[in-house]
Amino acid sequence: MKKTLKIFGIVITSIIVLLGIVFVYIGMSDIPSYEVQKIEFEVKSTPESIERGKNLTMMLCANCHLNKETGKLTGKKLLEAPTEFGDIYSQNITQDKKYGIGEWTNGELLYLFRTGIKRNGQYSPPYMAKLPNMADEDINAIISFLKSDNPMVVEDSTPDTPPAPSFLTKLLCRIAFKPFPMPTEKIALPDTNNKVELGKYLAYNLECFSCHSSDFKTNNFLEPELSKGYFAGGNKPLDEEGRVKFTPNLTPDKETGIGNWSKDDFVNAVKYGIKKGENALTNPMTPYTQLSDQEAEAIFAYLQTIPPIKNKVERSVYN
Ligand code: HEC
Ligand code: HEC
Repeated sequence: MKKTLKIFGIVITSIIVLLGIVFVYIGMSDIPSYEVQKIEFEVKSTPESIERGKNLTMMLCANCHLNKETGKLTGKKLLEAPTEFGDIYSQNITQDKKYGIGEWTNGELLYLFRTGIKRNGQYSPPYMAKLPNMADEDINAIISFLKSDNPMVVEDSTPDTPPAPSFLTKLLCRIAFKPFPMPTEKIALPDTNNKVELGKYLAYNLECFSCHSSDFKTNNFLEPELSKGYFAGGNKPLDEEGRVKFTPNLTPDKETGIGNWSKDDFVNAVKYGIKKGENALTNPMTPYTQLSDQEAEAIFAYLQTIPPIKNKVERSVYN
C-alpha cells in the first residue's frame, strides 16, 4: 500500500512538473508559425475595383484599423477585444515600408486573408479578420484599394505596437485556433441577379453571422450556416468601451426575430441604425452606409429563407 502510494505520488508530481514546463514554455514562446505558401496573385486595379475595395474596407477593416487621430489605417489599441486575449493592437496597413504593408506582395496579402498566416509565417489569432469565403474579385478590390492613392492608405510612418497576446490566447493558438486551408480554386462572385444568393454571400462575408449567432466560440467561419444558433442572436460582442452588447435575433421568427419586419425597416436599421419608435442602434452595430439598397435588401431576402429560431434577446441599454 505504502509503495503504491509512493508511486502514485511520484506520478502526480511528474505530471505537475511536466505541465509546469509546458505552461512556462507556452507562456514564453510566441504564437505558433506555419509554412508560408508562395502565392501569385495578380491584382487588376481599376477605378471601379478601388471604389468597391474602399466600401469593403470601410465595412470590414476600418472598425479595427482606422485610427481617428491620423485619419488613416495606421492601427490602434482595440478596446473592444476581450481583455482575456491580452493587449491587442491592430496594425498600420498603410503603404509605409517599415510599419505598413509597403513590402507585402499581393500574394502574401491574399494568403493572410484566406488562411490567417502572415508573411513571416506567424498565425494571426481570431482578433484579426479572415476572408475564407470572399470572392477573389472582392479580395482583388480590397488590395486595389489598399495600394491606391487614397489618403487613408498612402504611406504613413506612424509606428504600430505589436499585440501582446495573453497566455490564454497562446494556449488556444496551440490547441483550438488553426489557420484555414488555402482554397485550391478561385472563389467566384455570387450571381447578383439572384437576391437570396447575393444576400447569403454578404451575410457570410460582411460577418453579420459572426456577431448575430450564439457565440463567437461556436461560430463556423468556413461554413457559417453550421454556426450554433445561426443568426438567432444572443452573442456578446463588446462595444468601444468594452461593455457587453447582446446581439438581436435576425431569423424570421415572428415573435423574437425579424419575421414581422418590412424590407424598409431592415434597410433603415442596417444602413442608418434607425429603428422605428426606439433609440438608434449603437456600437458595435456600426451603420453600413456603404451598402447599396439592393445589397441590404438582398441580405433581408436571404434572412427570410433561413430557419426561424425562437430566442428572445433583451437589448443592452447603457446611459
Ligand atoms: C477585429 C479587428 C480587425 C479587423 C476587423 C481587421 N483586422 Fe487586420 N489586424 C488586426 C489585428 C489585431 C492585427 C495584428 C494581428 C497579429 O499581429 O497577428 C491585424 C493585422 C493585419 C495585417 C498584418 C499587418 C502586419 O504588419 O503584420 C493586415 C495586412 C491586416 N490586418 C489587414 C486587414 C484588412 C484588409 C482587414 C479587412 C478585410 C482587416 N485587417 C480587418 C485586427 C483586425
Ligand atoms: C460587431 C458585431 C456586429 C456585426 C458584425 C453586425 N452586427 Fe448587427 N447588431 C449588433 C449589435 C450589438 C446590435 C444591437 C445594437 C443595439 O442594441 O443598439 C445589432 C443590431 C442589428 C439589427 C437590429 C435588429 C433589432 O432587432 O433591433 C439589425 C437588423 C442588424 N444588426 C443587422 C446586421 C447586418 C445585416 C450585419 C452585416 C452587414 C450586421 N448586423 C453585423 C452587432 C453586430
